[in-house]
Amino acid sequence: MKKIAVFASGSGSNFQAIIEAVQKGELDADISLLVCDKSGAYAIERAKNEQIPYFVFNAKEYDNKEAYEKEILKNLQKHEVDFIVLAGYMRLIGTTLLNEFEGKIINIHPSLLPAFPGKDAIGQALHARVKVSGVTVHFVDVGMDTGPIIAQKAIEIGEQETKESLQTKIHQIEHQLYPKVIQTIIRGI
Ligand code: GAR
Repeated sequence: MKKIAVFASGSGSNFQAIIEAVQKGELDADISLLVCDKSGAYAIERAKNEQIPYFVFNAKEYDNKEAYEKEILKNLQKHEVDFIVLAGYMRLIGTTLLNEFEGKIINIHPSLLPAFPGKDAIGQALHARVKVSGVTVHFVDVGMDTGPIIAQKAIEIGEQETKESLQTKIHQIEHQLYPKVIQTIIRGI
């Protein structure tokens, strides 16, 4: 069975959806590690609840990205991780991890890329007054949300849409889509 690591920075609702897909037998993977860069993130509580090992780090305690990614890499190797799933991890992945996991890192982003990359994609879409936004799953490369697109789902933005209502719609789509895409991709590696 393929061993995956999930990287998260926040609430970890996508992490939870991945856990539940494994529990229901819809995703054939072993979630071997959570990697988190925020000590107060709720994602860590989810890992504790499910007895999933976790590695938490504070980027400010390292000289640079290479230094903390080397530490992440040690943990990934210790848990024999085959594949990395970014789920709300709000940092760019550097060459230390990209070189070791070439073609084996995917990300989910709350917009129809290449529109609205980077932070606050939902706020960016509302500000731009687009009528349609959505969710993208893509392979990770050195850029900001630029790697090859694997899957996308569109969502209509209503007249009365708020950040909260769009966030809810996006999460619903993400929680369905991401486990399915992970299953398809890891079957092929
Ligand atoms: C998700 O909506 C994900 O698409 C987004 O962060 C949220 C994390 O939610 N990711 C990005 O914006 C990456 N650029 P979660 O912590 O509840 O899974």
